[in-house]
Amino acid sequence: MKLQLLGLSLMTALVLTGCDRIDPNSPLGKRKAIYQQMLDIKEDLGGMLRGRLPFDGAAFAAGAVKLDELSRQPWQHYPAVKEEQSDARDDVWQQQERFNELARMLEAETAALVAATTVQPLKPQEVAPAFQRVEDACETCHKEFRAY
Ligand code: HEC
Repeated sequence: MKLQLLGLSLMTALVLTGCDRIDPNSPLGKRKAIYQQMLDIKEDLGGMLRGRLPFDGAAFAAGAVKLDELSRQPWQHYPAVKEEQSDARDDVWQQQERFNELARMLEAETAALVAATTVQPLKPQEVAPAFQRVEDACETCHKEFRAY
């Protein structure tokens, strides 16, 4: 009986710590890290277009390439069943076709952004529309599939 009790409290402790810390090697940990990198790059590119950072055409083009690479990566880290700690809505699993459609949309928009950055020297006003479409692609999916 005593042993059983001990086992139970140990398990509770493990479950509790599990809630706070997300294993970086878990699918959730991996896709969160990718999303965070995407956000960091998007903030830098947006900062350059909005005057928060000095505009640097070469750095902007390199960031676009990186963002395009990253935009292909989160989707493989969605497991068959939703994790408890995930901020994704159940719809990610229930409306997979729509989710995939929005994932492909982001990939298409980041590819278009890369295409818009190949002719140097870049002018901010020339890449701004393509960047805006990337931001819109992030937002469209978040509105439908992310629970804040
Ligand atoms: C096709 C859908 C989709 C697209 C497109 C998308 N996201 Fe997300 N994003 C999600 C979902 C769902 C979550 C909730 C986390 C999860 O998957 O469990 C999320 C979470 C995040 C998070 C929070 C990560 C964390 O640590 O909790 C960030 C940051 C983020 N996305 C950034 C971006 C950026 C930047 C873009 C565009 C460049 C983008 N996302 C495009 C679906 C999307």
